[in-house]
Amino acid sequence: MRFWSFLGTVSALATLAAAYVVHEEGNICRLYPESLKHNGSPVDDTPSIHKAFNTCGSNGHVVFSNYTFNINSVLNTTNLVNCDVSLQGELLFSDDIPYWLNHSYSVVFQNQSTAWLFGGTNVTFRGEGGWYNGNGQAWYTENRNQSNQPGRPISITFINSQNLFVDGLRIIQPQFWATFVSYSKNVSITNLYVNATSNDEWGTVNTDGYDSWNSDTLLVENAVITNQDDCVAAKGNTTNLLVRNVTCHGNYGMTIGSVGQYPTMPDYVQNVTFEDVRCVNCMEGAFIKTWQGESDDSSSNGDSGGGGSGLIKNVTYRNFELTNVALPIQISQCIYSESGQSCNTSKMAIEDITWSNIKGTSRYNIAASIYCSDVHPCPGIKFEDINLQSVNSTLGLPLYDTDIQHEVYQCTNIIDVDDSGVPCNHAAPDNYGQTVTSNVKND
Ligand SMILES: *[C@@H]1O[C@H](CO)[C@@H](O)[C@H](O)[C@H]1NC(C)=O
Ligand SMILES: *[C@@H]1O[C@H](CO)[C@@H](O)[C@H](O)[C@H]1NC(C)=O
Ligand SMILES: *[C@@H]1O[C@H](CO)[C@@H](O)[C@H](O)[C@H]1NC(C)=O
Ligand SMILES: *[C@@H]1O[C@H](CO)[C@@H](O)[C@H](O)[C@H]1NC(C)=O
Ligand SMILES: *[C@@H]1O[C@H](CO)[C@@H](O)[C@H](O)[C@H]1NC(C)=O
Ligand SMILES: *[C@@H]1O[C@H](CO)[C@@H](O)[C@H](O)[C@H]1NC(C)=O
Ligand SMILES: *[C@@H]1O[C@H](CO)[C@@H](O)[C@H](O)[C@H]1NC(C)=O
Ligand SMILES: *[C@@H]1O[C@H](CO)[C@@H](O)[C@H](O)[C@H]1NC(C)=O
Ligand SMILES: *[C@@H]1O[C@H](CO)[C@@H](O)[C@H](O)[C@H]1NC(C)=O
Ligand SMILES: *[C@@H]1O[C@H](CO)[C@@H](O)[C@H](O)[C@H]1NC(C)=O
Ligand SMILES: *[C@@H]1O[C@H](CO)[C@@H](O)[C@H](O)[C@H]1NC(C)=O
Ligand SMILES: *[C@@H]1O[C@H](CO)[C@@H](O)[C@H](O)[C@H]1NC(C)=O
Repeated sequence: MRFWSFLGTVSALATLAAAYVVHEEGNICRLYPESLKHNGSPVDDTPSIHKAFNTCGSNGHVVFSNYTFNINSVLNTTNLVNCDVSLQGELLFSDDIPYWLNHSYSVVFQNQSTAWLFGGTNVTFRGEGGWYNGNGQAWYTENRNQSNQPGRPISITFINSQNLFVDGLRIIQPQFWATFVSYSKNVSITNLYVNATSNDEWGTVNTDGYDSWNSDTLLVENAVITNQDDCVAAKGNTTNLLVRNVTCHGNYGMTIGSVGQYPTMPDYVQNVTFEDVRCVNCMEGAFIKTWQGESDDSSSNGDSGGGGSGLIKNVTYRNFELTNVALPIQISQCIYSESGQSCNTSKMAIEDITWSNIKGTSRYNIAASIYCSDVHPCPGIKFEDINLQSVNSTLGLPLYDTDIQHEVYQCTNIIDVDDSGVPCNHAAPDNYGQTVTSNVKND
């Protein structure tokens, strides 16, 4: 056995207190927090974490023992090979906002950044009773409902990975998006739990549960996600993604997008299936959002852009149970120019999208709004077994401020609409955003 900082004291606690990385037989690096040696004061554990990964990240095991670790600096644990990581304690990220704004690693996409880059080949990361605490409340309060604050970090970014299996990861109060998978192939995230809940008057804005970008062969299975943005989003160049058995609370549901933001980077999203999904009190259920075709270049992170091209093809939303969802089904091709005008300009092509067995209640009188651009009307749109009713109708309550008592299906630019199964009864307006707050009226 080989120990670092091991002083050979007698009592078990003193032994632990003296050791922050214990290197055990079988190339196991067992981590203990510095705070044990410093009367509980929150000394940064990232140097010992880097040391553990440097030693045991190749053909080894890294174990975060059952204590609280203080993460006061950015983590870069990449290039792991044949490594198993076990999280038994709490990773408590510091709330030193000026530090993170200044030091978070760029993830390239949308000028976003991250607190932790994690990746490698043949790697497992298991939450074995432990969790990630992003200390997000500090961010929610400081951010004051802004969108895409530059430098506000993604909790964990899985990058440059092949054969990565993440199981049982729990993220409490993520700082920003909880997980982001990029430049990776064959990444499975199972039993993910994300809960971004604010305890003051500010929302948790942009706390996506899972996002993927430039990655292939992906699985998200058995997740429970509570947050205030996309539950699961397939962003540009996501291919062969299966999302199964996910419960979403209060968020924007299952998303493709946003895509088409950058004219120089076309987005291709193909072969995506979302199945066995529950959304409770969500804003959206099952939707596709693209930027308009005209670039708006007053750039600031995720909030401006457009003019990008590409293709979204072969997407299935199957077996959804929606409860009080404002906009159950949507395609919008101008999601960020809600004031109107340029929906018709989008250069993103959308083909072969199926919604099947989508049931439950809508918050207003809207079931679906499908708006495809004039540039690329959508072929292969299919609805099967859609059964959505206004939550008020199901409760025997009246609908407010509308004379439309049936569910509204808005359609514009669907090719072969008669074969699509979409019971269109309204034209989709070109200014329907992702936040619906009232019933549709007859006009
Ligand atoms: C992260 O660490 C790897 C080495 O393991 C290095 O190649 C890479 O440049 C680092 N990334 C950043 C953003 O510092
Ligand atoms: C931010 O980074 C700059 C340049 O590295 C440095 O001068 C400044 O002190 C940093 N500020 C904080 C709050 O860390
Ligand atoms: C990863 O695992 C696969 C399958 O076991 C193996 O063929 C491959 O060599 C491993 N890669 C590395 C870098 O060890
Ligand atoms: C971690 O420690 C706490 C308190 O000592 C204990 O309740 C819990 O069961 C431990 N968890 C694991 C995975 O050992
Ligand atoms: C999320 O966290 C809040 C606040 O701690 C809690 O009330 C709520 O039950 C949690 N939601 C889920 C689905 O676990
Ligand atoms: C911030 O957003 C939250 C959640 O959407 C909302 O409840 C709150 O009213 C907003 N606060 C302000 C000041 O707009
Ligand atoms: C679905 O996921 C939940 C939450 O992880 C889990 O408890 C449940 O067993 C899963 N259901 C199936 C059929 O696997
Ligand atoms: C997607 O992949 C294509 C190549 O297939 C590339 O040209 C494009 O830049 C990528 N898009 C993004 C957003 O990275
Ligand atoms: C989509 O799936 C089909 C069938 O598995 C496969 O042949 C095709 O290559 C996939 N497309 C992409 C872009 O991965
Ligand atoms: C569509 O994607 C699914 C996976 O989501 C795949 O099984 C199927 O083969 C694909 N179909 C085509 C025509 O590529
Ligand atoms: C990109 O992010 C950095 C901080 O991470 C910020 O200083 C800069 O203003 C951002 N750029 C844009 C165009 O928003
Ligand atoms: C549902 O009914 C309640 C009570 O009558 C009413 O206040 C509310 O506006 C109704 N909601 C809709 C969407 O019509």
